[in-house]
Amino acid sequence: MTDASLSPDQQTADVVVHISDLHFGRGFQHAPAARLTSLINELKPDAVVVSGDLTMRARAAQFADAARYLSALNAPKVIIPGNHDVPLFDVITRTLRPQRNYHRYMDELSTNPLTLRHTGIFGLNTVTRWMHEKGRLRSREVDAALAWMAALPTSHWRLLVTHQQFFNLPESARPGSLLLARRHLANFSRGGAHAVLHGHIHHAHAVQAVEFIHDLPRPVAMVAAGTATCGRMRGSPERRVNSFNILHLSPIEMRVTRMDWNRETNDFETGSLTQFPRTTFDVATPAMDS
Ligand SMILES: [Fe+2]
Ligand SMILES: [Fe+2]
Repeated sequence: MTDASLSPDQQTADVVVHISDLHFGRGFQHAPAARLTSLINELKPDAVVVSGDLTMRARAAQFADAARYLSALNAPKVIIPGNHDVPLFDVITRTLRPQRNYHRYMDELSTNPLTLRHTGIFGLNTVTRWMHEKGRLRSREVDAALAWMAALPTSHWRLLVTHQQFFNLPESARPGSLLLARRHLANFSRGGAHAVLHGHIHHAHAVQAVEFIHDLPRPVAMVAAGTATCGRMRGSPERRVNSFNILHLSPIEMRVTRMDWNRETNDFETGSLTQFPRTTFDVATPAMDS
């Protein structure tokens, strides 16, 4: 879809829709879900990223609904699980095969990793069996992500996807960040990651990590999507709406547009726009120089 508000550079950009925390099950919001489907299919993005918490309680019927919903989105999808995608109360399944339903319904829908014209996207499974909220990165997957980033053309944007956040922002602090998060983030930064796309906090933001973690080797943007379709939202009262992000990735910049649900008009509208010039990533931070 051509958007007259975009520059010629952005009109040839990769378009990535980032949705998160759909939470099929109790509290699911049908109106934004239906509009999201039609918007994505009108936009015809190059990819859809789904950063976990597909269900509320990891039940087979909830995954079946999620799979039906995602199948109707006409784009390649990078899908990862969230902490709600393992059973909380079914201890036997949680012990023996915690991600059985996730893999059964999502594996064939997900194309992970995915390489576009200007962008590579690598999803990491951070879900653990025993910690309901916190996530952890497994060294095998971390090594695979680093090797995959190293093999991409240097001009490509390198996006990693996790469910949990690497650190909290003051306005959206939430239990359940990743274990050893700062060490992993420094490692990914050194390995050339430009951005981490995540969910979990049910609150959207797009910031440079170096504003909060000053000793990172290189800049990495932290892009959180809010919940697109769950009734549980966080943040200030005016921000407690369903939302999702649209990313435009050109050789010159990455633009992150937050789309907010408007309950009066029953439609999504632009909530904010954050621009990340590529040149700001291609420099070492003072920590790297020292
Ligand atoms: Fe969630
Ligand atoms: Fe979560």
